[in-house]
Amino acid sequence: MAKQNKPQQAPNTGHEWDGIRELTNPPPRWWMISLHASWIFCVGYIILYPSIPLLHESTKGLLGWTQIKEFKEAVVENNAIKAPYLKKVAAMDGQALLADAGMRNFAESSAKAIFGDNCAGCHGAGGEGSPGLFPNLADDDWLYGGDFDTIVESIADGREGSMPAHKGMIDDADIEQLADFVLASSQGKATPKGLALFNKSGCADCHGEDAKGGVFNDLGTGAADLTDGIWRFGGSREDILRTINSGVNEDPEDIPNTRSAIMPAFGEKLSPEAIKMLAVKVYGFGGGK
Ligand code: HEC
Ligand code: HEC
Repeated sequence: MAKQNKPQQAPNTGHEWDGIRELTNPPPRWWMISLHASWIFCVGYIILYPSIPLLHESTKGLLGWTQIKEFKEAVVENNAIKAPYLKKVAAMDGQALLADAGMRNFAESSAKAIFGDNCAGCHGAGGEGSPGLFPNLADDDWLYGGDFDTIVESIADGREGSMPAHKGMIDDADIEQLADFVLASSQGKATPKGLALFNKSGCADCHGEDAKGGVFNDLGTGAADLTDGIWRFGGSREDILRTINSGVNEDPEDIPNTRSAIMPAFGEKLSPEAIKMLAVKVYGFGGGK
């Protein structure tokens, strides 16, 4: 404690307001210590860290600290923590990755931002897709396949379903009947006559003799199941007619009404680990097989 004079003994400044006299006692010691400690801290801070604003930038400080440097160090630190996990991801196959709760959790949370940056724009934040434009990744209906390796392949290599425009290739009357057949199939009411026309018209080459899709041959891949009532491009008679007439991924300059279905390839843009983790995330939407 600083030596305090009793009020009676302290030299009087002569100031007095309403009976309250101002004396010359020094402030308490704790208060003085804090006062000196704070200015010493300020001077130290000014010397060590960027602080005084100048014309273009502030003084730099002896430590050379910058916000961006601190951020970069944090990233390096973060990467170092992640590195062993990423190594594990690289070494594990899909089944092992999905079976290991800890790794699956790591992959899903890491893939969240990657999915947001690269995929959600088309497929939606929850993989719900957009009718007619981008397929739903959260249901169990797959064009190319919902097992882990096929999902990885879809992401790495991209996909481009193609179906020829049939207008002019086959009779308009047949096209009308085929549309009726497709509509009836999706409601479980296919007729043998319709199926015969479907096969005769070459549709079965891609969509299968039973129209259940999934035929992978040199004509193409990923032809939709036409019997499940789940539509990639829309299931009204008009929609179906448009798909049959104008096809999928034809040159829009020749056939403006063609359906566009292009999944970009991410194999060059993203690391193999990132793609695997994305596959875990896609799997986690609930439709993985
Ligand atoms: C520019 C839009 C676009 C972006 C971006 C995109 N996709 Fe796709 N994706 C598509 C389209 C369109 C299809 C369907 C292709 C087809 O119909 O042939 C598709 C198909 C798929 C399939 C196959 C679905 C099936 O039924 O077999 C998977 C899996 C997939 N995308 C995952 C992803 C992931 C993961 C990302 C992010 C890395 C991504 N996509 C980014 C448009 C996109
Ligand atoms: C060369 C292969 C091929 C042939 C031949 C073909 N299709 Fe397709 N078809 C596809 C592919 C691939 C898709 C799915 C495109 C996609 O989503 O990427 C498709 C999609 C469709 C769809 C849209 C389904 C939906 O869910 O919206 C209909 C309808 C359809 N085909 C009907 C037919 C009919 C009818 C014929 C015969 C006149 C036919 N297709 C011939 C490959 C073919």
